[in-house]
Amino acid sequence: MTDDSLTAAIESATAALGKTSGPRKRSGVPTFAIVALVVALAWRFCSLATNEKAGEPCWEACGHKAGACAFCGTEGICKSVGRRKSECVVAPAPPLLPSLVAMLPPAPALSMLPPAPALALLLPVLLLAALSSPLAVVKLLFILAKTPYYALRSIAAFLAPSLFYKSVAGEVTIVTGGAGGIGKLVAQRLCTHGSSVVLLDKDGAALDRAVVDVRAAAAANAKCFTVECDLSDREATYIAMRRAQELAGPCTLLINNAGIVTGKKLLDGSDKLQELTMAVNATAHFWTVKSVLPAMIEANHGHIVTIASSAGMLGVAGLADYCASKAAALRFDESIRLEMRKMGKTGVHTTVVCPFFIKTGMFDGVQAKWPRLLPLLEPEWAADKIVSAIRCNQWELLMPRILHIVPVLRGLLPLPICADLAEWFGVLDTMDDFKGRAPAQA
Ligand SMILES: NC(=O)c1ccc[n+]([C@@H]2O[C@H](COP(=O)([O-])OP(=O)(O)OC[C@H]3O[C@@H](n4cnc5c(N)ncnc54)[C@H](O)[C@@H]3O)[C@@H](O)[C@H]2O)c1
Repeated sequence: MTDDSLTAAIESATAALGKTSGPRKRSGVPTFAIVALVVALAWRFCSLATNEKAGEPCWEACGHKAGACAFCGTEGICKSVGRRKSECVVAPAPPLLPSLVAMLPPAPALSMLPPAPALALLLPVLLLAALSSPLAVVKLLFILAKTPYYALRSIAAFLAPSLFYKSVAGEVTIVTGGAGGIGKLVAQRLCTHGSSVVLLDKDGAALDRAVVDVRAAAAANAKCFTVECDLSDREATYIAMRRAQELAGPCTLLINNAGIVTGKKLLDGSDKLQELTMAVNATAHFWTVKSVLPAMIEANHGHIVTIASSAGMLGVAGLADYCASKAAALRFDESIRLEMRKMGKTGVHTTVVCPFFIKTGMFDGVQAKWPRLLPLLEPEWAADKIVSAIRCNQWELLMPRILHIVPVLRGLLPLPICADLAEWFGVLDTMDDFKGRAPAQA
């Protein structure tokens, strides 16, 4: 045995014995206290289970003459067997328990311990404390205790979002894919609220039309600029992002919206278009975000918005490349948010948007199987929701709300059932009649 392996063996042995010489030093006292508490709780259970003789009314057998059932603590009706007081019968104790309990001295203090339902909650907590550390469990409980606050907050934000709105006046916004569709509609709204906007797109002619539309919706002198750029080209993207910030100032609100779809099954699509889908829908986000994030971090002020898709939340037949790119965009957003959290940059926000199909033309031909349950979205409505989510610093926007059920079902149900449900929702056939923007996809 080498010196190193001997040292490692000694360290692990002493750590196992509770002599905390290893790097993960922990006091043995809390663990001992937990074990003692667990034993005490078990004792309490034993006492409860054996204080009464099987078949006899428990309030008589256990000496609780006042009338409360010692087993379930209920006055009058025993919950454990659901009978009336006069019939309350306690289940017989396992044969080992009476002899164990007989060896224990009477413990009046234990009768003050909480009743069985509370213990059922307490035991997992104690187990968790033994597996991690008591302090970690306290922190965990503190985190969980905040749930009602955030639940109430999101209900309030749903009912009256304007209560939570931040101003976007004076912000400098860059919208990729801003020459049409959702990008242009969002730009119009932000410009109307006083933000300077740069539309960045590969389609020069559409950009010229879009800037006129944005100014018409906001004000003739609204600060709206255009930069032509193909986002699948990394160097061109860096240059375009620099140019955009020279025109309008340092970007404080970036909307990664540009996107394409091939709409073909994996084996029918060309390699080139599939690579392009990943490049525009996902990889370009790296370059645009890297162009603006350092200044946002320094000022501790900024907002990155990712327009992903419901197709990033689950697979769709005929959309493998698109789904892959949108799933990448979803997790990219989450990672940036966590990086900001780690750095303590509470002023740099992120929002990811996952819409179902929107009637912009991008998915022309696609039909919803159950339109009354899951309808195609109107572009104007979707743009309003996106701007509202940005102004609330909302982390995630799923449109329509029924999409929130997707992760819940995937977490709760067996995967074959999820696949059946997806088929029932039309996920296998939804792309059958896809036409899309024909010339752009060629
Ligand atoms: N329309 C939908 O049903 C739907 C559903 C979910 C998510 N989305 C997403 O919403 C976003 C906007 O979609 P839309 O419906 O407004 O689409 P759209 O086709 O109307 O607009 C997309 C814009 O991106 C631009 N663009 C495409 N490739 C580019 C490139 N290489 N460089 C620069 N610009 C490029 C296009 O010129 C166009 O102006 C996309 O990311 C899309 O994936 C759309």
